[in-house]
Amino acid sequence: MKELAAKTVSYYYESDNACIILGDSFKILRKLKAESIDMIFADPPYFLSNDGITCQGGRMVSVNKASWDKIEFSKQTSFAEKHAFNRKWIRMCKRVLKRDGSMWISGTLHNIYSIGMALEQEGFKIINNITWQKTNPPPNLACRCFTHSTETILWAQKNDKKARHFFNYQIMKDMNGGKQMKDVWTGSLTKPSEKKEGKHPTQKPEYLLERIVLASTEEGQVILDPFCGSGTTGVAALRYGRKFIGIDNCEEYLQITQRRLEKIHNERKRF
Ligand SMILES: C[S@@+](CC[C@H](N)C(=O)[O-])C[C@H]1O[C@@H](n2cnc3c(N)ncnc32)[C@H](O)[C@@H]1O
Repeated sequence: MKELAAKTVSYYYESDNACIILGDSFKILRKLKAESIDMIFADPPYFLSNDGITCQGGRMVSVNKASWDKIEFSKQTSFAEKHAFNRKWIRMCKRVLKRDGSMWISGTLHNIYSIGMALEQEGFKIINNITWQKTNPPPNLACRCFTHSTETILWAQKNDKKARHFFNYQIMKDMNGGKQMKDVWTGSLTKPSEKKEGKHPTQKPEYLLERIVLASTEEGQVILDPFCGSGTTGVAALRYGRKFIGIDNCEEYLQITQRRLEKIHNERKRF
């Protein structure tokens, strides 16, 4: 994995097929080799920590996720600043992505329209707009609108006539009982059994990342997650024999990632 980054990048944890880096993605991404990554999954800050309320385990709690999700934007220019943030990291990801690679980005109404526009402005073409429908969303406490129960995952490739993204059509069809897989994916929120190594406020369920990894990569390819949190992308990548690079600026989350990756590593050794 060392060969993918400049000598100045030090790894927080490294194994034969994974490395995680503690730091600001805006600084680290520029040190990774150009066109070295086969697939990127990014679950960036959603900017939904707006001091509202939601329901968790039957209790009323703040919607605020953490300080990283609450960027203090000035009122007049808030959209412009969020959009500039999204354009910048997407541009940096494009530099490290191979011509035939692809990028997935998840978001909610708080950021996904900016992300979609930023993707096109930065020279990407959207392949699919996946709707993740949650079967057990928290109820809407204010009762002033419909219950929020979906997230969007955009799948994009470089807008280059020669670019040929990889899609494992057959595996997706097999996983869907022999019928073409559609762009609405239904399933539960992250199960407590996936949080045994520690809690992250926005941990994605493993089944989502497993489907993304299997659909868009082949064994041995390199997957990057620039906002890796508790490392769900890494878990799916290693489980299916891919290589993983994760970046996060919070050490507590990378400790969870490391424990989860070590567990997968040990599981694979047993078989
Ligand atoms: C939405 S969470 C990702 C959760 C992840 N998908 C998972 O399953 O655990 C976003 C992550 O981005 C990290 N983050 C925010 N800004 C960052 C930055 N500038 N550089 C690196 N990481 C950042 C946060 O610490 C947080 O863990």
